[in-house]
Amino acid sequence: MQLQILLVVAAAMASLGTTIAQDSSCETSCGNVTIEFPFGSGEGCYYTSDFLVTCNRSSGEPILFFGKSTSNVFITNISISTGEMEIMGLVAYDCYNRSGRTRRNNPYLRIRDFWISTKNSFVAIGCDTHAYIEGKRQGNESDIGTGCISSCSSNKGITNGSCSGVGCCQVAIPERMRYVDISLRSYNNHRNILGFNPCSYGFVIQEGKFNFSSNNLHDFGSVEKMPMLLDWAIGNETCEVARKDTSGFLCKGNSQCVEEYGGPGYRCRCKHGYAGNPYIQNNCTNINECERGGVCQHECFEYDGGYECRCPKGFSGGDKKDGTGCIADESLVIRIVVGTLSAAIFLLIFVAWLYLGLKKRKLILLKEKFFRQNGGIMLQQRISGEGGSHHDQAKVFTIEELKKATNNYDETRIIGKGGYGTVYKGVLSDKRTVAIKKSKLVDQTQSQIEQFINEVVILSQINHRNVVKLIGCCLETEVPLLVYEFISNGTLSDHIHNESRSLALT
Ligand SMILES: *[C@@H]1O[C@H](CO)[C@@H](O)[C@H](O)[C@H]1NC(C)=O
Ligand SMILES: *[C@@H]1O[C@H](CO)[C@@H](O)[C@H](O)[C@H]1NC(C)=O
Ligand SMILES: *[C@@H]1O[C@H](CO)[C@@H](O)[C@H](O)[C@H]1NC(C)=O
Ligand SMILES: *[C@@H]1O[C@H](CO)[C@@H](O)[C@H](O)[C@H]1NC(C)=O
Ligand SMILES: *[C@@H]1O[C@H](CO)[C@@H](O)[C@H](O)[C@H]1NC(C)=O
Ligand SMILES: *[C@@H]1O[C@H](CO)[C@@H](O)[C@H](O)[C@H]1NC(C)=O
Ligand SMILES: *[C@@H]1O[C@H](CO)[C@@H](O)[C@H](O)[C@H]1NC(C)=O
Ligand SMILES: *[C@@H]1O[C@H](CO)[C@@H](O)[C@H](O)[C@H]1NC(C)=O
Ligand SMILES: *[C@@H]1O[C@H](CO)[C@@H](O)[C@H](O)[C@H]1NC(C)=O
Repeated sequence: MQLQILLVVAAAMASLGTTIAQDSSCETSCGNVTIEFPFGSGEGCYYTSDFLVTCNRSSGEPILFFGKSTSNVFITNISISTGEMEIMGLVAYDCYNRSGRTRRNNPYLRIRDFWISTKNSFVAIGCDTHAYIEGKRQGNESDIGTGCISSCSSNKGITNGSCSGVGCCQVAIPERMRYVDISLRSYNNHRNILGFNPCSYGFVIQEGKFNFSSNNLHDFGSVEKMPMLLDWAIGNETCEVARKDTSGFLCKGNSQCVEEYGGPGYRCRCKHGYAGNPYIQNNCTNINECERGGVCQHECFEYDGGYECRCPKGFSGGDKKDGTGCIADESLVIRIVVGTLSAAIFLLIFVAWLYLGLKKRKLILLKEKFFRQNGGIMLQQRISGEGGSHHDQAKVFTIEELKKATNNYDETRIIGKGGYGTVYKGVLSDKRTVAIKKSKLVDQTQSQIEQFINEVVILSQINHRNVVKLIGCCLETEVPLLVYEFISNGTLSDHIHNESRSLALT
């Protein structure tokens, strides 16, 4: 009763026309194979009779066939998006024993809207084998055929994995070949080679799925089916012509018509950014790329038919598909470069200033250290102890004062040089001309320093015609600088050794 009602419903659906695809009563799978429009089993579920498939569940594992009844070709996969399908089948064989032929099979495949994909090869196995595949070219339906011959008198020299003429041969499949027959012939009925090769085999197989082995020559009988790819398309017209038949045309809505293989018949494809079954009206729906995650580096914005990656202000790109990520815009790059540069320059100046400051401070500390070492504090105490007003007091000079007075110890200012050090002529800021003695480095003990200071204090107070007066000293250098009154008219040695001058002395 139920079955009858179903059949009535199905018949009613069929009468509504071919564009009504797959209502709930249509089978959607057969074992591992999903069945989608334009394919279907049962009335009203498929597009044209070529797309009618039948699932036979009576023998354990469900098996999908073309047409209405069981055949020796199984459908193992249907791809709606690529327009390909995978089938198992089409193995031809031709076997002999000493009395003659024992069994043979010349299979054929005749489906109007399908043809053999060029992703297959035609392979023949045998040592007395002439294998031939013939069919029609879709479009102008001219007869075409191709094949190969393999002949060998022994199984010596057969190489595993190599199908290149010895025990195994192969050829490429011509484009758009359909309505195919495979036939095998033998020249000597395998006479003399029955021991190792009683049969010839011929089949179409998906490239890369077959690896020849010498064992195949002896026993290949158990392998009756080989995986192969078929291409399919809708009808025998171009997109342009097919589109005119508005009720029969399948690519509608967000589905577009394509003729990617250059022949009659068309395929449907969901537009970019849409997914679904392009042969079912309004089934191509927007893909929510953003929801998938990991699409954009920063932010993802979804729109109908696509998505947009957005980056932070001043950046662009960010689509992970391009692998570039968010890239800074040119103006931002310039700003960053300028900013970085000026920061670097500022830092450099700051570091230089810090360095110089430290150096100066170190110099001051050094001066203070020398001043103390050389008894500067002692001298200051002595001077202030004697009452600051004394006119002939020793004066304590700074390094700067003496540097200025000698024009930074200029070579031209040198008036004497010896084991003790160097004597410079200098002019003080009060215009007094002085002789400045810069001694060589000598170690000094605390008592020596005391003695030195005493001498400075005393010498500075002596005011005698034949004694060079000590004006002061500078204690800020490692070795104290002594400042004397400047005596013109040459050195003492000049006066003693020079005849004309020594006369003047008493
Ligand atoms: C279906 O798929 C399972 C697992 O992938 C596999 O074991 C099984 O052989 C398949 N059946 C057919 C009929 O291909
Ligand atoms: C299904 O297969 C069985 C045997 O495997 C066969 O007897 C039966 O006729 C098949 N059914 C159809 C509808 O082809
Ligand atoms: C069917 O083919 C598609 C694409 O060619 C593939 O992704 C899928 O895994 C296949 N399914 C089976 C069961 O082989
Ligand atoms: C060859 O095969 C046929 C049928 O399979 C058989 O009747 C015949 O006896 C076989 N001949 C020999 C010599 O094996
Ligand atoms: C048949 O069609 C194919 C393309 O499908 C073309 O290359 C070939 O020239 C055609 N042959 C004839 C005889 O029209
Ligand atoms: C084919 O088989 C040979 C040996 O039997 C092996 O060395 C080779 O890697 C195989 N090639 C493939 C593609 O499986
Ligand atoms: C080819 O490989 C099979 C095993 O796959 C091995 O039994 C046979 O001896 C090999 N033949 C040659 C010629 O190497
Ligand atoms: C195109 O297909 C229609 C049926 O759909 C058929 O009548 C017609 O002969 C085909 N034309 C060619 C050139 O194959
Ligand atoms: C698209 O078609 C499939 C069946 O092929 C169905 O399961 C799905 O719900 C449909 N989606 C839309 C949006 O119509």
